[in-house]
Amino acid sequence: MTDLTHIRVEWDGDLAVVTIDRQEKLNALNAEVISELGEVFDGLRDDDKVRGVLLTGAGQKAFVAGADIGELAKMDSITGVRVSRDGQDVFRFIERFPKPVLAAVGGYALGGGCELALACHLRIASDNARFGLPEVSLGIIPGYGGTIRLARLIGLGRALEMTLTGEMVSATRAAEIGLVSEVVPGPELQGRGKALLRKVTKNGPLAVRMALESIYRALDTSTAEALDFESSLFGLLASTQDMREGMAAFLERRTADFRGR
Ligand code: COA
Repeated sequence: MTDLTHIRVEWDGDLAVVTIDRQEKLNALNAEVISELGEVFDGLRDDDKVRGVLLTGAGQKAFVAGADIGELAKMDSITGVRVSRDGQDVFRFIERFPKPVLAAVGGYALGGGCELALACHLRIASDNARFGLPEVSLGIIPGYGGTIRLARLIGLGRALEMTLTGEMVSATRAAEIGLVSEVVPGPELQGRGKALLRKVTKNGPLAVRMALESIYRALDTSTAEALDFESSLFGLLASTQDMREGMAAFLERRTADFRGR
């Protein structure tokens, strides 16, 4: 990875903690942050010592307060498409990441920040979190996948209400509607996020990877094709050492030692 200006990567065992740190602008996503995010996830994907990623924002006030409005204000119809595609590509890369990615959301997750959390596999929030897609109040629409992913996650009716009103929802409401799985006190956000990630990473890494593959592939294909794909992955896993180890460990009443092979 080249020198990063707005992103920090730290380690806790086999978890990478990726922090967006542009606090003076509430961690708003300018082109540089988007590009660095892509670079960081690209580097982590093939790093065998990484089993999961916790993505968060620096400071108490915001996860990410959106795309950078100062930059957006300068776009025309040609650069607008580019801006949207660049963000979509990075967020899609995160969504299709082969290891679990959890968004630990403290404070504002607005616009592109909410969309970024939606692209992650798991989401938890601190009690001061506020989620929203305020784009229509700026005369645009969510352009980083929010018009697709929000409805898939919380249902059409609630997604329409959030997108069309542009209003924020509290952390408690976000949990009620399935936007996050847990609300925790601010100081516990990272610890609880890591604990949830570890519930995933203690499992067979190839199985976790294939579960992600199958679930996300199913969103883009017919039921018949998705079922075929699921069976193929199921069969593939039956050829792994991890499957043998997982089942032997169960039968021998011990903890499995998965190697990702
Ligand atoms: N893009 C660019 N700058 C942003 C930003 C964004 N999305 N969100 C916040 N900032 C900047 C502010 O301009 C301000 O910068 P300045 O100190 O140089 O003027 C700084 O971050 C702090 O924000 P401020 O508005 O003063 O904080 P606040 O506590 O009064 O309000 C928010 C917080 C989140 C309610 C408010 O910043 C906001 O509405 N931001 C935009 C949210 C949005 O519409 N996001 C979707 C973009 S598509």
